[in-house]
Amino acid sequence: MDKQPTLVLTGATKGIGRAIAGRFAPVCAHIALVARTATDLKETQQALKAIAPGCTFEVFPCNLSDPEAVQGLCAALQAQYPSVDILINNAGAFLPGTILEEAAGALETMMAVNLFAPYHLSRALWPNMPVGSHMFNIASVASREGYIGKGSYGITKAALLSLHHSLRHELTTKGIRVTAVLPGPTWSDSWAGADLPESRLLQAAEVAEALWNAWQMPPNAVIEEITIRPQLGDL
Ligand SMILES: NC(=O)c1ccc[n+]([C@@H]2O[C@H](COP(=O)([O-])OP(=O)(O)OC[C@H]3O[C@@H](n4cnc5c(N)ncnc54)[C@H](OP(=O)(O)O)[C@@H]3O)[C@@H](O)[C@H]2O)c1
Repeated sequence: MDKQPTLVLTGATKGIGRAIAGRFAPVCAHIALVARTATDLKETQQALKAIAPGCTFEVFPCNLSDPEAVQGLCAALQAQYPSVDILINNAGAFLPGTILEEAAGALETMMAVNLFAPYHLSRALWPNMPVGSHMFNIASVASREGYIGKGSYGITKAALLSLHHSLRHELTTKGIRVTAVLPGPTWSDSWAGADLPESRLLQAAEVAEALWNAWQMPPNAVIEEITIRPQLGDL
């Protein structure tokens, strides 16, 4: 891509999202940072400015589990960015539990963040995405396989992968590339307190590098799916 891209990134303040922001910031003109916590957004914005002074960072505090807030976010992003070159649906909710015993509403909350928000953001922003632009959906190895304690999470990530497959088809002739990323266990706040050496998990920067490499492909080639796991496999 010749011009400096505009990137819209959800879940930008921590973990994989924060690593993606750091990887792409030096080449971007604008990055929209989305998360719930305003203080974290400000802190992320400041840290990114230090490594990428040529990029502007706008913050969009938004709870993606709230449909009205998502609607407002879509309108704000459409107005702010007539051209969006990269959309990364990264934010995700993970409420551990079994389908049989988890609290009522767990599936609905995760559906809202993990499926409905990417669905609405993709629908709202694709008309602003020029030929050669790129959508990423951060799914999970749980999109394909069942894991104890991640039943409803897996349902939502399987649904996100299905959304990805349809978007891939529907956006083919629009010149918009679509990539699903299915990470295995990746060190982040979700793993805080786990009795595991950090080295046993992927680093967020390694997942960010996979997105970067997919984005670097020439416009006539799309990496449709990336499954990335620790070399020693799942936990
Ligand atoms: N870490 C793993 O092992 C792993 C494995 C496979 C897939 N994934 C997927 O990778 C993505 C990133 O995961 P991560 O582990 O890097 O996450 P993380 O470290 O927990 O960070 C989550 C990010 O999303 C934001 N976020 C969470 N809920 C939100 C909501 N309701 N509305 C708006 N923003 C919200 C958080 O900010 P606020 O809290 O301020 O909102 C934060 O910026 C997720 O989709 C996750 O499912 C992760």
